[in-house]
Amino acid sequence: MNATVRSAKRLRGEVRLPGDKSISHRALILGAIAEGTSNLRGLSEGDDVRSTASCLRALGVEVGETTVVGRGVNSLEAASGPLDCGNSGTTMRLLSGLLAAQAFESELTGDESLRARPMDRVVEPLTRMGAVASWPPLRVGGARPLRGIEYRPPVPSAQLKSAVLLAGLFAEGVTEVVESVVTRDHTERMLRAMGAPVTPKGGGVMLQRAARLRPLTLAIPGDISAASFWLVAGALVRGSRVRILDVGLNPTRTGFLELLRRSGFGVTAGATSEVGGEPVGWIEVAGGKNLAPVSLGAADSAAMIDELPVLAVAATQLPGVSRIAGARELRVKESNRIDAMAEGLAAMGADIKSHDDGWEIVGPSRLEGARVRSRGDHRVAMAFAVAGLIAKGETTIEGAECASISYPGFFEQLDELAG
Ligand code: S3P
Repeated sequence: MNATVRSAKRLRGEVRLPGDKSISHRALILGAIAEGTSNLRGLSEGDDVRSTASCLRALGVEVGETTVVGRGVNSLEAASGPLDCGNSGTTMRLLSGLLAAQAFESELTGDESLRARPMDRVVEPLTRMGAVASWPPLRVGGARPLRGIEYRPPVPSAQLKSAVLLAGLFAEGVTEVVESVVTRDHTERMLRAMGAPVTPKGGGVMLQRAARLRPLTLAIPGDISAASFWLVAGALVRGSRVRILDVGLNPTRTGFLELLRRSGFGVTAGATSEVGGEPVGWIEVAGGKNLAPVSLGAADSAAMIDELPVLAVAATQLPGVSRIAGARELRVKESNRIDAMAEGLAAMGADIKSHDDGWEIVGPSRLEGARVRSRGDHRVAMAFAVAGLIAKGETTIEGAECASISYPGFFEQLDELAG
């Protein structure tokens, strides 16, 4: 499906976002090995989280629309065939940690994009923990017991950290993950809320084997990464005001808000409650003034890795040279996001140069509507939709249906806000 986006006069309204994708995956996976039924309101209805739910069902877990019936840490059953993780790297990497610790072997597969993404990065630490693991294709499990290790991830990745922590739940001794660049900490927070022995240690986190996990009762907050599209559009389309309700404000995810504020965007936010150890609140965006270019290194890029495609769009409107560096990971996401954004934004008239680990973007440019390719990547498709809102004329996004991977109803919501 192609989507056509026209230059917007203004965006106005209140937005409820899909449930946080990272928290949804973890709630299903950890709920599956808890002792008792977890009640999970507001799970993401995106395709990625559906992939996690269907893999868990294949492992004998009862997963409903808002419930997951956990039967304890040793309750999974071998699936009858390969587990299909669809397009979801989080599903594949987190499940590999959980399944590495099982007495049976599992094979994890996915669509063409996912099968091409690097999984050797999970195989390495899991093997060090004593698991049987190989890739490609990704096969894990069948040998126990695992032993805890001290692990220093070679790339900043919350998926990788979480895979090791999940395996650590079943390992003898202590599992420690020490990150040189901090990544989102939803796994640690959720495990703590479930009563697992997780403690901060130095710059890292320490975990011991968990005999039992308490089930969860959660109202999953809106996904702040999904909010990023409205924040950029709301600031750059003149006369806009958008209020985002019930959104997760975990400090390992709010780097993008702070960056936008520093660049002159009119973004305000406030926390109103805490759910399962996660702060939740609202964000409002209305215009901006004295806009300034951005300059990001490795730690900044890791803190807003999913927001970088739409940040590239924003940078085309910032006066001066924006430099986004330390983001080589973008090359191994659902698409090569460095190339995908450079190609589309250049076609729309932006001054953008790609580097191995990011972009250099000179603004402001007057964007013109063009035909651009999503490359089957949800965040690329939605970032181009934002570019279309601020461009002159009409922008056609090829393969826009992939937005449903994290944000079903994105284009309908866009029409409502712009209508
Ligand atoms: C995620 C971690 C990030 C992020 C992805 C979700 C998670 O991936 O890009 O959308 O839920 O742990 P990496 O760990 O590969 O950086």
